[in-house]
Amino acid sequence: MKILVRPQKTPLQGTITVPGDKSISHRAVMLAAIGNGRSTIRNWLPAGDTLATLAGIQSLGIQVEIDKKSPQSWDLQIEGRGLHGLQAPTGALDCRNAGTFMRLMAGILAGQSFPSVLDGSAQLRKRPMRRIIEPLSRMGADISSPDGKAPLNIQPALLQGFEYQMTIASAQVKSAVLLAGLYANGVTRIIEAGPSRDHTERMLAAMNADIAWRDGIVELHGGRELEPLNLIVPGDISSAAFPLVAATIVPHSHITVQNVGLNETRTGILDMLHAMGANVAIQNERTTGGEPIADLIVRFDELHAADIGGEVVVRGIDEFPILTVAATQAAGNTTVRDAAELRVKEVDRISVLAGELRKTAVQIEEHPDGFTVTGPMRLYGAEVDSHDDHRLGMSLAVAGLVTHGETLVHDAGCIADSFPGFVETMQALGARMAWVQ
Ligand code: S3P
Repeated sequence: MKILVRPQKTPLQGTITVPGDKSISHRAVMLAAIGNGRSTIRNWLPAGDTLATLAGIQSLGIQVEIDKKSPQSWDLQIEGRGLHGLQAPTGALDCRNAGTFMRLMAGILAGQSFPSVLDGSAQLRKRPMRRIIEPLSRMGADISSPDGKAPLNIQPALLQGFEYQMTIASAQVKSAVLLAGLYANGVTRIIEAGPSRDHTERMLAAMNADIAWRDGIVELHGGRELEPLNLIVPGDISSAAFPLVAATIVPHSHITVQNVGLNETRTGILDMLHAMGANVAIQNERTTGGEPIADLIVRFDELHAADIGGEVVVRGIDEFPILTVAATQAAGNTTVRDAAELRVKEVDRISVLAGELRKTAVQIEEHPDGFTVTGPMRLYGAEVDSHDDHRLGMSLAVAGLVTHGETLVHDAGCIADSFPGFVETMQALGARMAWVQ
C-alpha cells in the first residue's frame, strides 16, 4: 500500500478525533487479563500492534468479548483470571512489530508457573531486549535469548523484589519490572532515569495494587490480587501529533482534535511546538479513567527554530519524526540532543528519517544523539519509504502536504500499526492524500 500526497493548496479545517492511546490500549488488555473478574475497556485501539497483544492474551486462555464500534474504536469485556490464572500457550506468542507487548509481557510471563516464548517480526527481532532481561534476571527471572534479542525463552522462576536504579528513561523497561514485581516477594523499588510515561502505575493504582510513585521513584509491594479495570481509553496524543503538525505548517489551517490524552509524561510534543511558536490551545480539560484529556485547537502560524534537549525528549520520544517535519518549516536551525533512544525504535529514527527526508531536499545533519534541521526549506515531492515504521510513514505523508510536486509514500500499510484511518482522518480535514495500490 502507498499513499499519494498532493501539495495542499487549501487550509486544513474541521474537527476530528484520533484513535485510542496505543500505550494505554496495550496495558489495558494485559492488566485486565491478570485482574480478578470482568474488565470493561472502551474506545480500545484496534491497531496492528495492539491486536497482537489482544491475540496474545487470548492464547493465554483469556476470554474476550469484542464490540467493534468502528474500525478505529472497539469496546472490550475481558474476563480476568487473577495473577495466577493464565494458561500455558500452545506455541510462541507473536508480538509482530510491538515492542511494548514483548517487553511488558516478559514481565508478566517471568512470574508464571509455565514456560513461554515471546517472538515477533524481523523488525522486532532486531530491537534490544537486554534492557529488560537484565533487571528481570536480577529479580530471579529465567530468560534466555540468542543475543539479547527476540525470541525470548522464559522458564518458571520465583521472583524477588529489588531496588532498581534505571540507566535509560524507558517506560517499557520500568513497566516490565513493575509487572514482574506483582509476582515478586517483597518490595520492588524503581528509581527512574527520566520522566517516562506512567500509564502502568496509574492503571495498577486504579486496580488497587499496592503501588506509590513520586518524584521519579516507584514502589510496589508484590502479591496483592488486582481488581478489574474500567476504562475509557483517551485519544492518542502520539497520533494527534500528525494532524496537529499538519495544521501548524499548512497556511491558514484551523483544526480541532477532540478528546486527546494529555498525561504530562506525554505532552512533550506540545511543549516543543510551543517553543517553536506554534499556535496550539488546550480547551475543555477533564479527566477520564485517571488520565487527563482535552481538546486541542490548532491554527497555522509561522514557526521558528528551537534547541531541544533534556527531559522534554522523554515526554515526546515518539514525536520526533513529525517534529522534524515541523522543523523543516521553522526559521533557523532546530537542534535536537539527548535523543539517542531514537536509534533503537522501530528503525533508527535519526538516520533512516534523515535519509528519507533528504530525498525531498531537507537539509538535516545527524548527531549521535539527535540532529539539526535547517529551515524554512522548500521541499520537493519524491518517492519515499516508511521502512515499515508507522510514524515515519505518517510523517512523510504530512511532509508531502508542503512539498512542490507529488509525494508517494511506499510501504505505508504499517501506518495501521498505530493509527487505523490516518488517511481518512486527514481527508476529513481536506488533506490531499489518498491510498493507492
Ligand atoms: C512505550 C514507551 C516508549 C515509546 C513506545 C511506547 C510504552 O518506549 O517509544 O512507543 O508504551 O511504554 P521506551 O519505553 O522504550 O522509551
